[in-house]
Amino acid sequence: MSGAVCPGSFDPVTSGHLYVFERAASRFDELVITVTINPNKQGMFTVDERLELLRKVTAHLPNVRIDSWQGLLVDYVRDQGFDTIVKGLRGSTDFEYELPMAQMNRDLTGVETIFMLTDPRLAHVSSSLVKEVAKLGGPVGDFLPSVVHEQLLAKLSSGR
Ligand code: PNS
Repeated sequence: MSGAVCPGSFDPVTSGHLYVFERAASRFDELVITVTINPNKQGMFTVDERLELLRKVTAHLPNVRIDSWQGLLVDYVRDQGFDTIVKGLRGSTDFEYELPMAQMNRDLTGVETIFMLTDPRLAHVSSSLVKEVAKLGGPVGDFLPSVVHEQLLAKLSSGR
C-alpha cells in the first residue's frame, strides 16, 4: 500500500492546493495532508480552523486524511509508515525554496519528495498573496474553494 504526506501551512488552503491534493490522491492509496505548526509564526487562521477547512474541501476524497504536526517533518512521515512527501510546484521560485528541504529530508532519512505541478492557471496563487489582496479589498473568490472564501471574508469583516 502506497502513502504520502502533503505538508504545508495551509493558512488557508487555496484552490491551487486542492488541485495538487486531488492529483496526489489519485496516485497514492493514502494521502495525509498535514498542517505543520510553526510556534514562531502566527497565522491568520488558527490550526483548528485550517484543519476544519481542509476537512471540508477534501470531503470528496475518501483516501485523504487531515492531521497536524509540530516537529521535524521526516520523523512524522516515518511515524505514519510512509517514505514520501508530496509538494506542489508553481514555478522556479518554489523549486529554489523546496530543493534544499527535499535534499535535507532525503539525507536525514531517505524520505523522498515528489513534486507535482500545480494548475498553470493558478501558478500565481499563494495563501499569503490571496490574504494580502483580500485585506486590501480585492476579489479573491476565483482562487479559493467557496467555504474558504466565505470564512476569509467573515474573518476580515469581523476584524478577527
Ligand atoms: O506551506 P509552507 O510554509 O511552504 O510549508 C513548508 C513546510 C511546512 C513543509 C516546511 O517548513 C517544513 O517541512 N516544516 C516542518 C519542520 C521541518 O521538518 N523542517 C526541516 C525541513 S528540511
